Amino acid sequence: MTSIRINDINLAYTDVGAGPPIVLIHGYPFNRSLWTEQTEALNSKYRVVAPDLRGFGESDSSEGTATMARMAEDVAALMDALAIERAVIGGLSMGGYVALAFARMFPARVKALVLADTRAQADSEEGKQTRHQQAEKALSEGMAGIADAMLPKLLTPDTVSKRPELVKRVRDMMLKTKPEGAAAALLGMAERDDQTEFISSIRVPALILVGREDAITPVADSEKMQSRIEGSRLVVIENAGHVSNLEQTEQFNDALLGFLSTV
Ligand code: MLT
Repeated sequence: MTSIRINDINLAYTDVGAGPPIVLIHGYPFNRSLWTEQTEALNSKYRVVAPDLRGFGESDSSEGTATMARMAEDVAALMDALAIERAVIGGLSMGGYVALAFARMFPARVKALVLADTRAQADSEEGKQTRHQQAEKALSEGMAGIADAMLPKLLTPDTVSKRPELVKRVRDMMLKTKPEGAAAALLGMAERDDQTEFISSIRVPALILVGREDAITPVADSEKMQSRIEGSRLVVIENAGHVSNLEQTEQFNDALLGFLSTV
């Protein structure tokens, strides 16, 4: 494992390939192995950096709330340590929330954005309450209940019934997540800023990807982002739900590689 002392924690990360850098930020409650297939597809032409966000994978957890801004600062500090001034910043779902926070905080460090299965809006009041309940549940009961409840929302019914290996992979990723890391991120997502106004000011190329059957961040959320981010491109991934990069790797990678060749 490669890790580095960043801010107050040890942060684990992957850094492979050579060429223009792209940073890939995983969603909740996953880890950097979410990006294995993208890392493999990109690293012959690009330098791919994928951190385990604080509290996830092999990175340390921190006390309290892991805000999106804090995670964005971790990404910036990792880029500093790796001598990467500017990169394509990509994120899936919570990774997209972090990518948007990063773009707002460090605009000069963003060459282009990849926003996968994510949204610009903040949580509703009800959504925030649910996050708090989930955080308590994670801490008191562990990740199994959360994983079982999330699975049918993450994958299409077709994937759930026909691709047991993928179902197991996604479930195992969630089960490996430390409850305190999950809880900290849930509280962080609950208090994240609404980026709806901010995204209208984005002036770098942006690729928006979403699974046609995404039940967590539906296509409509991506359409809203696309209508606000000038010149952005939206690709809807067919036969995919929320983890569209895993469910339809080829479609996802083709869109990503096509986009990267233009930026
Ligand atoms: C994720 O996949 O990162 C989360 O489902 C996002 C969310 O809960 O808003």
